[in-house]
Amino acid sequence: MEKEISRIGVFDSGIGGLTVLKCLLDLVPQVDMVYLGDTARLPYGTKSSRTIVRYSLQCAGFLASMDIDMLVVACNTASAHALPALQNEFHIPVVGVVEAGAQAAVQAGGRRIGVIGTSSTIKSRAYEETIKALKPDASIFAQACPLLVPLVEEGWHDDEITAQVASRYLKDLIAARIDTLLLGCTHYPLLKDVISRIMGDSVKIVDSALSTARVVKSVVDRRGRTGGEGRVSYHLTDSSERFIELGEHFLGREMKYVYDVDLCV
Ligand code: DGL
Repeated sequence: MEKEISRIGVFDSGIGGLTVLKCLLDLVPQVDMVYLGDTARLPYGTKSSRTIVRYSLQCAGFLASMDIDMLVVACNTASAHALPALQNEFHIPVVGVVEAGAQAAVQAGGRRIGVIGTSSTIKSRAYEETIKALKPDASIFAQACPLLVPLVEEGWHDDEITAQVASRYLKDLIAARIDTLLLGCTHYPLLKDVISRIMGDSVKIVDSALSTARVVKSVVDRRGRTGGEGRVSYHLTDSSERFIELGEHFLGREMKYVYDVDLCV
């Protein structure tokens, strides 16, 4: 019999995965959540596949030691490179954001789909391959936007400089006349307004956070829930006041249980 779910582990390279956690708190509020932000080694998006897989296995290993019943890989870069390795290593449901994001783009009716993400995510071609598997006749246009993560980390969500940088990255996608833009990075939902203004009303913007949470909810509904109280703890590989400041603002709730962790690397 499948095990019921009482505690879910969520990891990201840093703060960005809170976009996924927020949707999880809305959709499965009674389950306990253990969030790990690998803030000491952020960004993942510029690193090689080998390193991303190694870091991801270490993050998941830490969460597994916290007795989780399910793992959510909130980081697009980690999902793009490490999902098969994680599914192979950990014998609990492992949900990544790539499949859910690709599904959201296809469900939005996209035929000419733009995908933006970190350099490593785009290089992996994971989104392209997943969208193609779901909708073979879709045309896909991928664009790495490496400078957007640091701009979000700086808190420049609605800033003229961010708009200029985004416009430069998005110009080829505008020229390609895409109808749907998939935000394939944890940080980009925070730039949704800026990106929508640049792309114009005719382009649908989709992200994977909500669709990932829906997949998680369907697993929880199927397996059943036991014992959780909706307690959320946060574990960071580098302590950061800014993480708490930005995190509380973004989640709209107090981050009560925040701990420093060492992944023993
Ligand atoms: N979390 C990463 C992602 O979604 C963005 C930040 C990073 O590069 O680590 O791809």
